[in-house]
Amino acid sequence: MSQALVAVVMAAGKGTRMKSDRPKVLHEIAGESLLGHVLHTLGELPLAGIHVIVGHGADQVRAALPTGTQAVEQREQLGTGHAVDQVTPHLTGYEGDVLILSGDVPLLSVETLAAMQALHQREGAAVTMLAAELADPTGYGRVLRDGEGRVQGIVEQKDASPAQLAVREVNLGTYLARWPVLREALATLTPNNAQGEYYLTDAIARVAQAGHPVACHVTADPLEGEGVNTRAQLARLQAAYQVRTAERWTAAGVTIVSPTTTIVGPRVVLGRDTVLEPGAILLGGTVVGERCLIGAYSQLRNVRCGDDVEILCSYLTDAAVGDGSVIGPYAHLRQGATLGRKVRLGNFVEVKKSTLGDGAKAAHLAYLGDASVGREVNIGCGVITVNYDGKKKSQTIIEDRAFVGSNSNLVAPVTVGEEGYVAAGSTITADVPAGALAVGRGRQVNKDGWVAKRRQAASQA
Ligand code: UD1
Ligand code: CA
Repeated sequence: MSQALVAVVMAAGKGTRMKSDRPKVLHEIAGESLLGHVLHTLGELPLAGIHVIVGHGADQVRAALPTGTQAVEQREQLGTGHAVDQVTPHLTGYEGDVLILSGDVPLLSVETLAAMQALHQREGAAVTMLAAELADPTGYGRVLRDGEGRVQGIVEQKDASPAQLAVREVNLGTYLARWPVLREALATLTPNNAQGEYYLTDAIARVAQAGHPVACHVTADPLEGEGVNTRAQLARLQAAYQVRTAERWTAAGVTIVSPTTTIVGPRVVLGRDTVLEPGAILLGGTVVGERCLIGAYSQLRNVRCGDDVEILCSYLTDAAVGDGSVIGPYAHLRQGATLGRKVRLGNFVEVKKSTLGDGAKAAHLAYLGDASVGREVNIGCGVITVNYDGKKKSQTIIEDRAFVGSNSNLVAPVTVGEEGYVAAGSTITADVPAGALAVGRGRQVNKDGWVAKRRQAASQA
């Protein structure tokens, strides 16, 4: 693109057929909103600006927008032409191209947008639209061409004649247009059609009628242009998304055992020779290094894993796991769990806002919250950091090579010094000096013959 490019994303529609209280563009595929997918794709293009047309559920949509995008409110949803016209006051004096997309079309690829741009330039077009040949064109606007194949306009399903309905080439609703030309055409729109709306498609026809060249990129992959109107479509596009994403990652050297059950979000990054087992779900800004195993039915959201990490059937959010660590099965890492290298966490271990040093172990049934755990610390089975007194959270510090015996409570704030030992079953309320053994439990008393005495007492009664 030699000149500047501004994107306009239409996202004001209601999405009635979703039967939802949530604005349609905020429904999700692979843990990201439909609009998020579109914005993620746009993020790969050099753009001078992104305007998102908001209307239905405007506050919610606005709140979901990343920085660098500008919301433009369309107070009444009077049609796609009216929607795009809302940016006119924001683009005064702008002479470049606008890229127009819908916020509910999540699978559109940057490659297709690049192909549109190339065609646009090659043909010196005023507008370049995206189309596809469909076996069943029902519901879409049909592309009308003249005898020489030049695009003349687009007719909506509801306005089409029987002959026009037979056209199988459909408008996918993505356009690249020279802004001054389109702006002028938008200003002439009237809502004289079956839906009483200002159609963006009519503006394209006006541009063609005025003698400007209108180009049309026909994609071989109509799924790219498919919008979400119903929950069934949402599910279908989710499935298609998974297959596509799996193709991309397997081509990059990742093994995905079961693409249909594995979900990898658009922002996720995976290293070579990593294996994703069936049911693995990786979302948000998750980054996984090389040679990792993300075991069956594990879920990671915003997790950073180093290399050679194994995660078995576990649930991790907003956490970091160092090289060579082994997690699970059935571990739970929450916000701010930060593990060093070769950490071992076993079944039913929960970690929140805690750091664990290299080689630390908590093999079974433990809760570590607001804790700083040193290197090679051993956390026994059933250890609990008692971090909450009902009012505030307090810190537990466990220094390098300390050993915390099974079923101990560490009542925070408290420190176990370097190489300190906590006897099993202790409730620790005072700091344990480095190298000391702390026993914090009642002394055991054995009462000889107690069982026989009780039996005798019972028989006399
Ligand atoms: C539109 C096209 C149709 C094309 C189809 C592709 C028009 C008139 N028709 O039809 O040719 O085949 O897309 O999917 O453009 N929106 C607003 N404000 C409005 C109206 C719509 O922001 O006032 C947004 C919607 O939220 C949606 C997008 O524009 O993201 C498309 O609107 P929609 O009503 O779905 O258009 P279609 O009838 O599908
Ligand atoms: Ca639509």
